[in-house]
Amino acid sequence: MDSIITNQIAPVGTSFLTDVLQGLQSKPKFLSSKYFYDEKGDRIFQQIMDMDEYYLTDAEMEIMEQQSSELARFIAVDNQPFDLIELGAGDATKSIHLLNALLKQQLTFTYFPIDISTHVINDLEENLPKKLPQLKMEGLNGDYFKMLKKAKEISSRRKVVLFMGANIGNMNLTDAEQFCCDLRNELSQNDLLIIGFDLKKNPKQILAAYNDSAGITRSFNLNLLDRINNELDGDFDVSKFDHYASYDPETGACKSYLISLQEQWVNVGDETIHFDANEFIYMEISQKYSLEDVDALAKKSGFNPIHRFFDHQEYFTDAVWKVD
Ligand code: TRP
Repeated sequence: MDSIITNQIAPVGTSFLTDVLQGLQSKPKFLSSKYFYDEKGDRIFQQIMDMDEYYLTDAEMEIMEQQSSELARFIAVDNQPFDLIELGAGDATKSIHLLNALLKQQLTFTYFPIDISTHVINDLEENLPKKLPQLKMEGLNGDYFKMLKKAKEISSRRKVVLFMGANIGNMNLTDAEQFCCDLRNELSQNDLLIIGFDLKKNPKQILAAYNDSAGITRSFNLNLLDRINNELDGDFDVSKFDHYASYDPETGACKSYLISLQEQWVNVGDETIHFDANEFIYMEISQKYSLEDVDALAKKSGFNPIHRFFDHQEYFTDAVWKVD
């Protein structure tokens, strides 16, 4: 459940209905992946992370399981107290290894998990103290940047920000750069950002992770149409749409779409939306990076890349960036 995602940078003042209508009335059509995660979406996402083709979770888990004490040494500077802020904490199944390592090294810190989902934050506050009784924590429920500002009001300690799960990949390159610049501007000298990237690799392997043979990713995408039917009084016939994933090794963009299998009209709220046969709805990007791309992003957004951790297959990297 590490993921009840969290990659969404919720725009202020918009609602599900307005966003959906805006997306479906645009050319080309799109839907925001931040709405994937209703209860059923969360469950299907859990299945995605458990499937053989989806290598990302295992790769980053391996890094956290095996290299957390080394990562903790990068974080600990002069034994000064600090705040560990996790953007999109999910159920912290990966970060718990780091928390453990930091506690073992007897460092003084407070853990601030930030998540857009109230449910996720409540769960963490209930369950983490049982697993790590010595941990000082304060869950923050809301938008990443608003909550980051709140954490800064709570304490002026050095900040270490965790942004894992390749969630940066769910932004296109322009948005990712803007996001990292915004993050940099919230941080101060000697603060750290630890950020996970899925690396460019064999295109077939990447595509399979987003186009599994059992059709789990397909049902994950189609579930958003069900959600629109249930919550926005929609009448999508889900059997008249199919999932299509593509990976472009040149740009590293892995994208998913829903394809309308025939010409059709769909009602959502009070609006009627027309689909041509074979018209697509753009759903999500999962951008893949080379190591050069990772370092270039660090520099463009004003960070100094100081270290990279890898799983043994080098599928994934957690990069450590510092504010000089
Ligand atoms: N950030 C992860 C990734 O890009 C998890 C994720 C987000 C995901 N949305 C997804 C995985 C949709 C599969 C399908 O892989």
